[in-house]
Amino acid sequence: MGTSKRLMSLFVGALAVCILFASPRYSSSEAPPPKDKYADVHLNPNGFSPSSECGKCHKDIYSTWKNSLHAEAPNNFVFQTAYLQAYFERGEEVRQVCLACHAPIAALNADFKLTGEITREGINCDYCHSIAEVQPGGNGPHNRFEFGLVKNGPLQNVSSPVHKTRYNETFKESRFCWGCHEFETANGVKLIETYSEWAKGPYPAKGIHCQNCHMRKVSGKIVAEEVKAVPQKEISSHDIAGGHSLTQREESIGIKIAQVNRFKQKVEVTVDVTNKGAGHMIPTGIPSKKIVLQVFIQSKTGEVHQMHQKTYQKVMVDANGEPVVHDSDLLLGKPVRILSDNRIAPLETRREKFTFFVPEEKDQKVSAAVFYSHTPRIVQPSPIHIKLHEVQQAIGP
Ligand code: HEC
Ligand code: HEC
Ligand code: HEC
Ligand code: HEC
Ligand code: HEC
Repeated sequence: MGTSKRLMSLFVGALAVCILFASPRYSSSEAPPPKDKYADVHLNPNGFSPSSECGKCHKDIYSTWKNSLHAEAPNNFVFQTAYLQAYFERGEEVRQVCLACHAPIAALNADFKLTGEITREGINCDYCHSIAEVQPGGNGPHNRFEFGLVKNGPLQNVSSPVHKTRYNETFKESRFCWGCHEFETANGVKLIETYSEWAKGPYPAKGIHCQNCHMRKVSGKIVAEEVKAVPQKEISSHDIAGGHSLTQREESIGIKIAQVNRFKQKVEVTVDVTNKGAGHMIPTGIPSKKIVLQVFIQSKTGEVHQMHQKTYQKVMVDANGEPVVHDSDLLLGKPVRILSDNRIAPLETRREKFTFFVPEEKDQKVSAAVFYSHTPRIVQPSPIHIKLHEVQQAIGP
C-alpha cells in the first residue's frame, strides 16, 4: 500500500502544479472580438473548449484527431477493462493515477468521474494547444498551461479571427510527448520508457522527433477555405498512429535470411532482424507487448518439419519473482524489477542463429516470420498475433 500512496502523492503533486498555473493569463477582454460571421463558434475564454468547436474551422485536423487513440484514450475498451480491474483492486485512488495520462483534463477540472463531455474527450485539441511550456520528467504530464484564447502551436506569423496564436517550438520536439510516454513505478522500476529510448538512440542527432514519424504531413487544409485561404496544402496528421497502425508496424521492422548451410540432416539458418523504422525500442511502451520471430523448415508440400522461436520483450517480475503480464498490474506498481530486456534498439540489427535437424529432402524451404503480439485483458484473453513479414528461401542441395 505504501507503494500506491507514493504513486498517488506524485500525481497529487503534479495536480497541485497544474492548479497553481491554472489561473487564466489572458482575460476575455484582451481577446480579439469575435465577428458576427463566427456567431456560432463558442470558445471558452477561461478554460478548455470542446474539440467540436475547433473542428468548425480546423475540419481536416479534427477528422484525423477524431480517429486517434488519443481521442479514445479514456474510452477504448482495452483501457476501460484494465481501468475497471485496477479500480476493483485499489479503489478510488486509481482514478487519479490512470486518468493523469488517459484523460488529463480530469485533473485540471477535478472531474475524476468523467462526467463532463470535455473530460471524456481524452487528449483533446485544447489540452495540447493550451500547453505553454513542458516541464521535464515523466510519470504524467508536467505542463504550464495558458488557458483561454491563446493557442500555442508550430506555426509562425499566423492569425485567427477567434483566438490568438503563439508560436511555440516545443510543438516540434519530442519533449512535448515526454510526460505521458515515460513512467516509473513507485518502486523505481522503469515501466514505459519510450521517450528515453528515443533520447538514447540515434534519432536526436538527426533532428528526428516523435512528430516526424507520428504526425507526418498529409494533404489537407489547416482551416476551412471559407474561414481563410492559406497557401499550405498540408497538415500534420493528428491520428498519431503507432502500434495500432499496421503500416507503421510493418515499416518498423525488417527481416532477412542471411545464410543457410546444410550438412546432411543439420541445417543452420542465420536470420537478421532490424529495427529499421521505430525511433525507440521495438516493442516499446507498456511491457505487455512482444515481437516474436519464428523460423521454420518446410517440405516441398508445405509440411513444417521443425520450428524455432525467439521472443523480444521486456519481462518484469513481482516480489515473488513471478512475471507481471497484465496492463493493470503493470501500471499499479506490482513489478519490482526488470528480469530481462532483449528488445531491439533503434537501427539495431540482431543476428540470430538456429540449428535444425530435419530429414534430407529435395526442395525444402526455410521461412522466417515476425509477429507483433499483445494480450489485452478483454473478453477473449487469448493473445493477438499479427504477422508483419514473412520471407522464404530454398535450401540448397
Ligand atoms: C497530443 C497533442 C495534440 C492534440 C490532441 C492536438 N494537437 Fe494539434 N498539434 C500538436 C502538435 C505537436 C503539432 C505540431 C506538429 C508538427 O509541427 O510536427 C500540432 C499542430 C497543429 C496545428 C498547426 C498546423 C499543422 O497541421 O501542423 C493546428 C492548427 C492544430 N494542431 C490544431 C489542432 C486541433 C484543431 C486539434 C483537435 C481536433 C488538435 N490540434 C489536437 C499536438 C496536438
Ligand atoms: C473561426 C475559425 C477557427 C476556430 C473556431 C478555431 N480556429 Fe484555430 N486557427 C484559425 C485560423 C484562421 C488560424 C490561422 C491559420 C493559418 O493562417 O495558417 C488558426 C490557427 C490555429 C493554430 C496555429 C497556432 C500556431 O501559431 O501554430 C492552432 C494551434 C489552433 N488554431 C488551434 C485551435 C484550437 C485548439 C481551437 C479550438 C479551441 C481553434 N483553433 C478554433 C481559425 C480557427
Ligand atoms: C496527456 C498525455 C499524452 C501526451 C501529451 C501524448 N500522449 Fe501519446 N498516448 C497517451 C495515451 C494515454 C495513449 C494510449 C491511448 C490508449 O490506447 O488508450 C497514447 C498513445 C500514443 C500512441 C499509440 C497509438 C497506437 O496506435 O498504438 C502514439 C504513437 C503516441 N501516443 C504518440 C504521441 C506523440 C508523438 C505525442 C507528442 C506529439 C504524444 N503521444 C503525446 C498519452 C499522451
Ligand atoms: C523514426 C520514426 C519514429 C520516431 C522518431 C518515433 N517513433 Fe514511435 N513508432 C514508430 C513506428 C514505426 C512504430 C510502430 C512499431 C512499434 O509498435 O514499435 C512506433 C510505435 C510507437 C508507439 C506504439 C507502441 C505499441 O506497440 O503500441 C508509441 C506509443 C510510440 N511509437 C511513441 C513514440 C514517442 C512518444 C516518440 C518520441 C519520444 C516516438 N514514438 C518516436 C516510429 C517512430
Ligand atoms: C504516464 C502516463 C500513463 C499513466 C499514468 C497510465 N497510462 Fe495507460 N498508457 C499510457 C500510454 C502512453 C499508452 C500507449 C501505449 C504504450 O505506450 O504502450 C497507454 C496504454 C494503455 C493500455 C493499452 C491500450 C491499448 O489500446 O492497447 C492500457 C490497457 C492502459 N494504458 C491502462 C492503464 C491503466 C489501467 C492505468 C492506471 C492504473 C494507466 N494506463 C495509467 C500512459 C499512461
